[in-house]
Amino acid sequence: MKGMVVMMRNFTYYAPTKVVFGRGAEAEAGRLVREQGAKKVLLHYGGGSAKRSGLLSRVAASLAAEGVECVELGGVVPNPRLSLVYKGIELCRAEGVDFILAVGGGSVIDSAKAIGYGVACGGDVWDFYARRRKAEGCLPIGTVLTIAAAGSEMSSSSVITNEDGWIKRGYNTDFCRLRFAILNPELTMTLPAYQTACGCVDILMHTMERYFNGGERMELTEAVSEALMRTVMRNARILLSEPDNYEARAEIMWAGSLSHNGLTGCGTDGGDWASHMLEHEVGAIFDVAHGAGLAAIWGSWARYVYRDAPELFERFALRVMNVAPGASAEETALRGIEAMEDFYREMAMPLSLRELGVEPSEEDIVNMAEKCALKGGGAAGVVKRLTAADMAEIFRAAR
Ligand code: NZQ
Ligand code: ZN
Repeated sequence: MKGMVVMMRNFTYYAPTKVVFGRGAEAEAGRLVREQGAKKVLLHYGGGSAKRSGLLSRVAASLAAEGVECVELGGVVPNPRLSLVYKGIELCRAEGVDFILAVGGGSVIDSAKAIGYGVACGGDVWDFYARRRKAEGCLPIGTVLTIAAAGSEMSSSSVITNEDGWIKRGYNTDFCRLRFAILNPELTMTLPAYQTACGCVDILMHTMERYFNGGERMELTEAVSEALMRTVMRNARILLSEPDNYEARAEIMWAGSLSHNGLTGCGTDGGDWASHMLEHEVGAIFDVAHGAGLAAIWGSWARYVYRDAPELFERFALRVMNVAPGASAEETALRGIEAMEDFYREMAMPLSLRELGVEPSEEDIVNMAEKCALKGGGAAGVVKRLTAADMAEIFRAAR
């Protein structure tokens, strides 16, 4: 770190989503939708948690009170599917929907974004995810978020799984950025502990993906990232014994949005993202929870690449994981990686693919690595540029 030359990159920071944060905030849904000039809303939701908790009917009542009509489409699953997106597009066209309200987590929001592209652009929406066409618009979208995790409420991405070949792909544009995000930390109190922990891992990972970058960085960005990661870990530990602690839920929820709205990437080259790319391959085939998949892979990735950026891993170890310095940057770096793995263990998160509950064959590993490299244009990552062979090694180490 001492004497390290830090280059800063020019950047554009664009985070146009209006955030309405706090207890009872979902009561604002109707007013916020009307503020957007919408007349007919698609109320999009997942497998039932929003219905069971009564949230969906509260939101529907808030829309009705503002004279906004709505149609419902539930059934979004984690790793959201293209087939439901097609169904949503048809429904929106048939019903003349002009706004989508996603009540749920990253999967529901991502499905809403895909439907929004499909309605606004026409043609086959998968073309965008397959990089065959570029979107030129998206229906306006808002959310009532129910899980702090993916950060889709403020991100420019949508990640969809095509069941035809089980291909999971992300597509990023500013068109899909949400008009508003209603963040009530109380809504996350019904989450199973496993999903809360998965969410915390994903939030940490969105920050780490940007923190571990190719060398262009900015002091303020790094300091924000470090504080964010420490805050998430401290409050995640509180939630282990006090899942209804509002303050801890609130700290984590806001961290989730800030970790993926670009703030922690300002002045950098955008970050590494190899762990995410590798996890998406696992999620596509084995349908695992995204955060748990990341926990299962990260340690193997970190051990594979840390010697290529020992100072950065050393800084992470000292400032985020608070370990005692070792005899060398590499030794300190390794202590930091171990400390993060210890944290994952404390959260009951898997540290290997086996612990994740999947046992890919050698053929699966080679396939996932090749698909991943292809999606990255031949390679992925910036801390160390990973080829398909490197990726396969990481998958093997993660077994
Ligand atoms: O479907 P329901 O019944 O609502 O259950 C969900 C789901 O099973 C449940 N849940 C959500 N809120 C709840 C609740 N259960 C009880 N009480 C609540 N308040 O939690 C489960 C997970 O929900 P999901 O929406 O899948 O979680 P998450 O927000 O982690 O989203 C994961 C998806 O987002 C993608 C992932 O790859 C994955 O497909 N990502 C999207 C990103 C983006 N658009 O920017 C970035 C991420 O890196 C990520 O790739
Ligand atoms: Zn993620």
